[in-house]
Amino acid sequence: TVKMIIDTDPGIDDAMAIFYAAAAPEVELLGLTTVFGNVSTPTATRNALRLLEATGLDLPVAHGAETPLALPPFTPSAHVHGDEGFGDIPAATPKHQQIDEDATEFLCRMAREHKGELVVCPIGPLTNIAHAIQRDPEFAKNVARIVIMGGSLHEGGNITPHAEANIYHDPHAADVVFSSGANVVMVGLDVTHRILCTKSDFSAIAAQSPELGGMLQQMSVFYLKFYESVDKLDGCSLHDPAAVIACTHPQLFTTLSTPLRVSCEGETSGATLAAPDNKRPPVDVCIDVQSSEVKSLFLKRLALLP
Ligand code: BDR
Ligand code: CA
Repeated sequence: TVKMIIDTDPGIDDAMAIFYAAAAPEVELLGLTTVFGNVSTPTATRNALRLLEATGLDLPVAHGAETPLALPPFTPSAHVHGDEGFGDIPAATPKHQQIDEDATEFLCRMAREHKGELVVCPIGPLTNIAHAIQRDPEFAKNVARIVIMGGSLHEGGNITPHAEANIYHDPHAADVVFSSGANVVMVGLDVTHRILCTKSDFSAIAAQSPELGGMLQQMSVFYLKFYESVDKLDGCSLHDPAAVIACTHPQLFTTLSTPLRVSCEGETSGATLAAPDNKRPPVDVCIDVQSSEVKSLFLKRLALLP
């Protein structure tokens, strides 16, 4: 099994990724850390607690960074994930609370305690990961892998023509991670745009898993509407679940090893660029995926949930 911490801004596809991780026998989830992105960090923490409570897992949630490393704070746009992050599902107060440690402390400690084994799977902006790298010089070496949902090599952006949303919201943090020397895998739009889930897929999920799958189906209504109106697509990308699946089933992805840098200004801000001449260490960028296998794994594992 893969010992995993998911760093998240829940978010509809974040909820899908977390439920997937909870269901997958290959994952030993150690906790969640939260970050701004789809929602503000306080909302992300509340949502993360709520998702874990729904799965019945009693795991630590550590509250993370509330602002980007260098960019000014921003107000999340609610048009993709809804005001509270879960589409039209109303906000609810979780029963549990976050732990006292913040996300950075928690990440650094877990990387030390599970040296060489911990896989960190960030599915939001990379601010917490950059803080951990900056705080503990051993962090990048202690983690087995950092498997990121974010970026795009050839696919263009989704929030601007050049940038993918998670990288765009904190490009400086992404650049810290890509230059850290950690074992980094980038699961970006080049692959996630090829893994689509339709309305009927969500109905099938809800039929097999009425409680949690039903919750995902309810959330997906809002998300699918966004994809239909903006991209004219009958289906939504499984962005965040793809990163979790890349942690457990790397053989389903084809990677290209290249140094990466992140544009931090101007119109291309947030673009992830191959920088072959750069002296920084290479990153494994996913450039192809066995999409039908990834999708059937997603459907199969979610069916295990109540
Ligand atoms: C990423 O941005 C967020 O909207 C999603 O949750 C995902 O992590 C996709 O670009
Ligand atoms: Ca996300």
